[in-house]
Amino acid sequence: MSSAPIESALIEIHNATLYRGSTCVFKNLNLSIGRHEQVAILGPNGAGKTTLLKLINREIYPVAQKNSWVKLLGKATWNVWDLRSQIGIVSDDLQSRYLQTTAGLDVVLSGYLSSIGTHGLLAKRITSAQRKRALSVMIDLGVEAYADVPLSKMSTGQQRRCLLARALVHDPATLILDEPTAGLDLAASFEYIERIRRLVKQGRSIVLVTHHLNEIPPAIRRVILLRQGRIIADGPKDEVLNVENLAAAYDTPLRLQIKDGYYFAYPEEQRAARDATRKT
Ligand SMILES: Nc1ncnc2c1ncn2[C@@H]1O[C@H](COP(=O)(O)OP(=O)(O)O)[C@@H](O)[C@H]1O
Ligand SMILES: [Mg+2]
Repeated sequence: MSSAPIESALIEIHNATLYRGSTCVFKNLNLSIGRHEQVAILGPNGAGKTTLLKLINREIYPVAQKNSWVKLLGKATWNVWDLRSQIGIVSDDLQSRYLQTTAGLDVVLSGYLSSIGTHGLLAKRITSAQRKRALSVMIDLGVEAYADVPLSKMSTGQQRRCLLARALVHDPATLILDEPTAGLDLAASFEYIERIRRLVKQGRSIVLVTHHLNEIPPAIRRVILLRQGRIIADGPKDEVLNVENLAAAYDTPLRLQIKDGYYFAYPEEQRAARDATRKT
């Protein structure tokens, strides 16, 4: 009897303990994300979301201990270049590390070098096919006009799209987005959310990290709720996103509204105000 090969998970974290400086952010964390999932990691500031991404991105490593491992696509060790071509990352952190004088096309091309910028000798390693591909991704994202424009002369939204293009030059199967709408105005946020929808439609898997509940696009199916380095809920979006879980995660009473696949939290009325209304 033949059986289909079991596909390894995108991310498999087993018993990982992680420190940032002297702060223990995660203690014996267990988490698995499949290759074809659309997942949001939601939680308040300081919950450990960016730390988790840095673990996935091999920027930080867990404490070496018995019976603990982190595997990406079934492998525990990765060459950073190979990894970048499988998983594209967009983050505010990355955006802020670029010199403001870097031109749009150079930001995108730097994706091939897994570096910040293409200055010096590294630039010579870019092939004409890579340059062509970079420009075509910029056209797809509507930022081709910014190829020669320095970041300092772009809006935050245009900069963010250049960074998305940087992640897409490798055509990665998975995109990891850390607070992708940070610093964007409403129109640019909506445009970004629509972009995520299209990426999902293209068959890419998405891991979206956010502290904004209302920015979870309907295409996201699974939500992992983090609080102070602990997963307090994990499962289908409609099961995880309830008042009890969200109030516990954000440590505040709240109400919840769901419309067209989007979730909105708003403050619970103060008891005194509610009582006063009742009396009138
Ligand atoms: N470079 C650092 N050095 C020490 N502690 C850090 C560092 N970066 C983050 N932390 C701490 O790690 C915890 C998780 O931070 P982070 O992963 O950035 O949270 P989030 O992205 O959910 O806002 C916080 O308590 C934060 O203060
Ligand atoms: Mg963060």
